[in-house]
Amino acid sequence: MARKGKVTVVGSGFYGSTTALRLAEYDIFETVVLTDIVEGKPEGIALDINQSRSIEGFETKVIGQSTTAEGAGYEAIAGSDVVVITAGLPRKPGMSRMDLIGVNAGIVRGVAENVAKHAPGAVVIVVSNPLDEMTALAQIATKFPHNRVMGQAGMLDTARFTHFVAEKLNVPISSVATLTLGSHGETMVPVPSRCTVSGKPLKDLLSQEEIAGLVDRTRNGGAEIVALLKTGSAYYAPSAAAARMAKAVIEDSGAVMPVCAWVEGQYGISGVYLGVEAAIGREGVKKVVETELEQGERDALLVAAEAVRAKQNDVKDL
Ligand code: 2OP
Repeated sequence: MARKGKVTVVGSGFYGSTTALRLAEYDIFETVVLTDIVEGKPEGIALDINQSRSIEGFETKVIGQSTTAEGAGYEAIAGSDVVVITAGLPRKPGMSRMDLIGVNAGIVRGVAENVAKHAPGAVVIVVSNPLDEMTALAQIATKFPHNRVMGQAGMLDTARFTHFVAEKLNVPISSVATLTLGSHGETMVPVPSRCTVSGKPLKDLLSQEEIAGLVDRTRNGGAEIVALLKTGSAYYAPSAAAARMAKAVIEDSGAVMPVCAWVEGQYGISGVYLGVEAAIGREGVKKVVETELEQGERDALLVAAEAVRAKQNDVKDL
């Protein structure tokens, strides 16, 4: 099999290391680089993943590289086609994602500047929280065109919604299709009108109250896991989502997925990073894809856009 390209994952916490493992196990990249500011951690994780290659049967090599906040070690990411930024603190129980904005803005800005310097041609996928704001900040700090900077959230929120629907109806996960748009936070917009089970509209299978319950659980899907874990936040589903986005980039697949992308006119919204569906490929976001929404869903998306716009305007000063 022809392997191509280089993908870097910045941050070797659970989210970053699991993303690196998934990317390596795809066996489609030449190289996966994993970095962290904790000396030895990315090297150790890379060695561990590489030692699983003969068991799992993949050739992709993982390179671990410690870095400093000043940028030492970033030479290892040179030539990366894709960079996934996971750096930053996760939530603690009771915290909102927005509570992380101050501390994570400093971390993400520093990382983004080093990415711009050492991997100027990369597509950047941000997963650090608060997601919509950190994605906007990464674009400002890299000065990359908007299409080359996007955030991972919609894939994850949609996957959570899909899981809750499948569980509620006790049907195979593959029979369920759902969608979430909007922010990765309070103004997340699950889109019941786009939800089907074996092609049947969800509203024919569940009552409005039942759907509202699943929507609510989806909106709080991250916090539910943070509360259970007590330290750290979710990483299996989040890393699956981020890795799929990186795969779509390197394969130039044009796959349409919900992501945090720069919106320029779609839904009557402009000049903001927002959760929308987009076709993903070699240039990052190829195209934002507008979908049919019911009036209430469209209104909720407009509310989400204005909420994240206000916060995104603040991040340039952080
Ligand atoms: C979550 O929702 C990590 O924000 C991520 O679990």
